[in-house]
Amino acid sequence: MEQLQQILDQALQQFAAIGDETELEQVKAKYLGKEGSLTALLKGLGKLSAEERPAAGARINQVKQSIEAALQQRRDALQQNKLAQKLAAEALDVTLPGRGLGTGGLHPVTRTLERIEQLFHSLGFATAFGPEIESDFYNFTALNIPENHPARAMHDTFYIDPQHVLRTHTSPVQVRYMEAHQPPLKIISPGRVYRFDSDATHSPMFHQVEGLWVDEEISFANLKGVVQDFLQRFFERDDLRVRFRPSFFPFTEPSAEMDMSWKDGWLEIGGCGMVHPNVLKHVNIDSEKYLGFAFGLGVERLAMLRYGVNDLRLFYESDLRFLKQFN
Ligand code: DAH
Repeated sequence: MEQLQQILDQALQQFAAIGDETELEQVKAKYLGKEGSLTALLKGLGKLSAEERPAAGARINQVKQSIEAALQQRRDALQQNKLAQKLAAEALDVTLPGRGLGTGGLHPVTRTLERIEQLFHSLGFATAFGPEIESDFYNFTALNIPENHPARAMHDTFYIDPQHVLRTHTSPVQVRYMEAHQPPLKIISPGRVYRFDSDATHSPMFHQVEGLWVDEEISFANLKGVVQDFLQRFFERDDLRVRFRPSFFPFTEPSAEMDMSWKDGWLEIGGCGMVHPNVLKHVNIDSEKYLGFAFGLGVERLAMLRYGVNDLRLFYESDLRFLKQFN
């Protein structure tokens, strides 16, 4: 039975040299399979005499068990290797610092709106809001801009349907507020407005702040005082000056363009005027008894000046490298 020892040695050697599980199972067949060398020996037992048979059978079985044990050992070893490799490849360094949760912050335009509101509140103005989808009536007609009036061409309007627009300015809130309240009235109305326009200083969506003060003795001098006080405090500059240039708006008379001093020149920051009697008539306020002023300021313009931003589109590109600078 020298042959048995040879088979065992060979099997052990071969198993040890194999590095792959599938290959191992294939080699197993060479010894233990139907055509395997050990199986052949077992079949040969029949040719032996009855006396020799039990001892021979026992030895073959012993070798068979040894081979099976070696096989199992090798299987386990290969599995272990595989696991070790996988773990090494997926290694986590738990001592690395975490990435942390970035804290969010307010958008620069939101910050600017909050600052504007705070300052006007301190001057006694309440805040009112109106819808962004506005009827043609409130956006134009009630503001003394009748149909086919050339003033409509000043606004590049997005129409929702023939009767509704994305409001082109915050001025309609004046009308809505005066419909619902009796003078004295003193409000600002911040919000989004929309125009078909887009370049470095125009965005199809932008923000305005409307102002309205209606009372028995309100004059253009009050308007000048309020606007100048606001701007000086907004920019924290006592030497900031405001200039009014005669202009035209259908809902004010007289109307003016507001400029503020900036570096060596003047910058336009909005429109204003004394509320037109026709507008007061629309909302049943007696224009013999009451006077009012109104103004509209561009919020992005104020934010750009305050923060030194030279392209308005930066506000709406959602680029964190830009936005993070404000928090
Ligand atoms: N609504 C005007 C615009 O968007 C701005 C404006 C001008 C508002 C004069 C006013 C005003 O309240 O009195 O162009």
